[in-house]
Amino acid sequence: MKLLRTLLILGALPFLAVAQAQQGKVECKIVYVPSEQVVVEKMLQMAKVKKDDMVFDLGCGDGRIVVTAAKKYGCKGIGVDIDPARIKDSLETMRKAGVTKEQVDIRQGDALKVKDLENASVVMLYMLPEFMEKLEPQIKSRLKPGTRIVAHDYPFPNMEPDQVVEFDVGGSRPKFLYMWTIPQPKKKK
Ligand SMILES: C[S@@+](CC[C@H](N)C(=O)[O-])C[C@H]1O[C@@H](n2cnc3c(N)ncnc32)[C@H](O)[C@@H]1O
Repeated sequence: MKLLRTLLILGALPFLAVAQAQQGKVECKIVYVPSEQVVVEKMLQMAKVKKDDMVFDLGCGDGRIVVTAAKKYGCKGIGVDIDPARIKDSLETMRKAGVTKEQVDIRQGDALKVKDLENASVVMLYMLPEFMEKLEPQIKSRLKPGTRIVAHDYPFPNMEPDQVVEFDVGGSRPKFLYMWTIPQPKKKK
């Protein structure tokens, strides 16, 4: 798992980072790289998305994951992105797909500070390891049992996935998709 993670990080260096020296600190910004549509479909399939799901995409880019989910499965979605340009893109994706604001809510903001994350039944992620590490405590403490989480290429550092799928999209390296399900709380004896 460690070797795999290292290889993925190295493979992602071009996408990785706009690294800025700010007051002596290095800050990493996650730039926009969309999931290929075939990967989007696979992520939704892995999460077994159904009509009554609420799909969150934290760092939603052009909104393709939540829009595809709403269009294909008839569920609701919430996309959060920090970049106003991506909010415009997402609204355009919705317009082109004929998906309404009742079906998909696109919000500008920090995906580490989502007020209603508890409402998710599916969470989609294509974010870098630093973000995944920061999000992990919220995933463990805030999501309901049964909630499925699917991550493209970068897993949570301390959560063993239920499923890992290697996926060849014809690029220079295969893609990895990771899936977790929040377990039911253990019954006290
Ligand atoms: C690699 S792209 C993934 C886009 C989309 N989820 C997909 O798979 O096609 C990551 C996105 O996360 C956004 N992002 C980065 N940091 C963020 C943060 N702290 N909160 C919300 N969005 C963020 C970027 O603007 C970018 O659009």
